[in-house]
Amino acid sequence: MMTEMRLKALLVTMVLWMCVFAKAIRGADNICTFCSCTTVTGKSVVETFVNVNCSRKNIEIPPSGALWPSKTLSMDLSFNSINVINVLENNNFLKYLNLSSNNISLIEYQAFNELPALQKLCLKNNSLGDLHQDIFKMLNNLETLDLSFNKLKSLPEYIFKEQKKLTYLTLAGNPFRNIPSDLLRPLKYLEYLDLSLTGNYFLTPGLFHELTWLKVVKLTKNEFQDVPTVALRSAEELEEIYLDENPITELNLKSFTGLQKIRIISLSNMPVLGYVDELTFSKLRHLEFLNLHSNPQLEVIHALAFKGILDPKSNQMRLNNVNLRNNSLNTLYEDALPWCKLETLDLRDNPWNCDCKLKWIKNCNMKEELKDLLLCHAPENLRSNVIMTVPEDQFICHSKESHWREMHNRIVRSIIIGIICVISFILVFASLTYFKRDKIMEWWLAKRRGSGAVYYVKAKSFPEDI
Ligand SMILES: *[C@@H]1O[C@H](CO)[C@@H](O)[C@H](O)[C@H]1NC(C)=O
Ligand SMILES: *[C@@H]1O[C@H](CO)[C@@H](O)[C@H](O)[C@H]1NC(C)=O
Ligand SMILES: *[C@@H]1O[C@H](CO)[C@@H](O)[C@H](O)[C@H]1NC(C)=O
Ligand SMILES: *[C@@H]1O[C@H](CO)[C@@H](O)[C@H](O)[C@H]1NC(C)=O
Ligand SMILES: *[C@@H]1O[C@H](CO)[C@@H](O)[C@H](O)[C@H]1NC(C)=O
Repeated sequence: MMTEMRLKALLVTMVLWMCVFAKAIRGADNICTFCSCTTVTGKSVVETFVNVNCSRKNIEIPPSGALWPSKTLSMDLSFNSINVINVLENNNFLKYLNLSSNNISLIEYQAFNELPALQKLCLKNNSLGDLHQDIFKMLNNLETLDLSFNKLKSLPEYIFKEQKKLTYLTLAGNPFRNIPSDLLRPLKYLEYLDLSLTGNYFLTPGLFHELTWLKVVKLTKNEFQDVPTVALRSAEELEEIYLDENPITELNLKSFTGLQKIRIISLSNMPVLGYVDELTFSKLRHLEFLNLHSNPQLEVIHALAFKGILDPKSNQMRLNNVNLRNNSLNTLYEDALPWCKLETLDLRDNPWNCDCKLKWIKNCNMKEELKDLLLCHAPENLRSNVIMTVPEDQFICHSKESHWREMHNRIVRSIIIGIICVISFILVFASLTYFKRDKIMEWWLAKRRGSGAVYYVKAKSFPEDI
């Protein structure tokens, strides 16, 4: 009895196996003759899935579903010549679809309706000008969506309504300029958002409201003149912010206020950034990595720019990596940050003024490769010397300040001497006047009499007139 049942079970399994194989191979016969297919095993041995790679095959129309292996797990159709996508046939297994670099300009709104398992969709580098509001309606398992480098000027406000599982979204390289304020609201689990190169100069304050999982925002190569703090602040878990290549002129207390959990800030290649004001990075106690390099106009980092970044209890900070390479800094305040305790500090390619205020750098234990190219730019006699090789007693302050102080002292000294001279003169004059008062009186009277003498002389000269 038992053996018979076992035999039956074995037979059934074998038949099933054969069916699966036959189907997989029959399907594979078609598309896999000109695309490359690889078989992968699922969780149980019975399940076999196929990854199909049809990249760079000059395909103009998406291959019919009848030609696909039935359990196609992924389909790479990148770098072909597809211009239009009508409806892709039903496939309950497809998780990954890559349609990048095809010059696609039109996608029918039901195109993806029959792909309920789809998790990753890549439409990067096509010619999409607009998308229908229902285009992703049935893709409620979508986790990654790449719409970068298309021609999208806007998106319908409710296009992501069903993407509750989306964690990764890139809209980079589209001429948006403005993102509708409710567009991202349904994306409750979004973690990564790329809005680089979208011509943006403003983010609606509530744009990230309710995106409590958002950790990374990329805003590089845009038109921001200020950090869009208010919008960013509503993403409470934000950890990484990339603002490189934006026309921001100054960073200050307002720039990062409220971004409590930020770990990484990148602000490089900013053409007009000139000043980092006091308290800019204060209270960013989770900051680990600060990228502030290649800002050609950046001349000053305020002595108090990092004030309050140390944890008040432990007096420690998480910041361990600061890149200040290739700016226009000529000095760096020793007490602004425990610079020498950082794991990596890159100060190369700045016009450093090697005076007494920069002497501390010599005692800093920096990585070899970061030390070698650290050069003095001023004073004249030290220009192009490697800072680490300049003797400590050469870091002298001839700064304008001390020059001023000297000038000031000299003026004060002259004024005091002048006052003393005047007082002495008055005193001498007064005492002389006092002691010689009789003589002076006499002289004065004599003078008066003398003037009467004119009369006298006159009378004498012409006695006949009297
Ligand atoms: C498909 O093949 C191309 C080379 O033709 C390769 O660059 C690409 O990474 C492959 N795609 C996948 C998903 O493996
Ligand atoms: C799709 O393919 C392109 C080119 O092979 C690749 O750059 C891109 O990363 C792929 N997309 C996804 C989502 O993996
Ligand atoms: C973008 O797609 C075009 C074809 O439409 C291709 O020639 C080009 O190499 C792609 N660019 C990138 C960066 O992948
Ligand atoms: C892309 O398609 C448009 C028409 O939709 C065509 O004018 C253009 O030349 C195509 N570009 C490339 C790189 O094939
Ligand atoms: C320094 O910055 C300038 C201007 O941003 C940039 O063009 C140059 O490539 C940078 N050099 C290095 C070594 O990073």
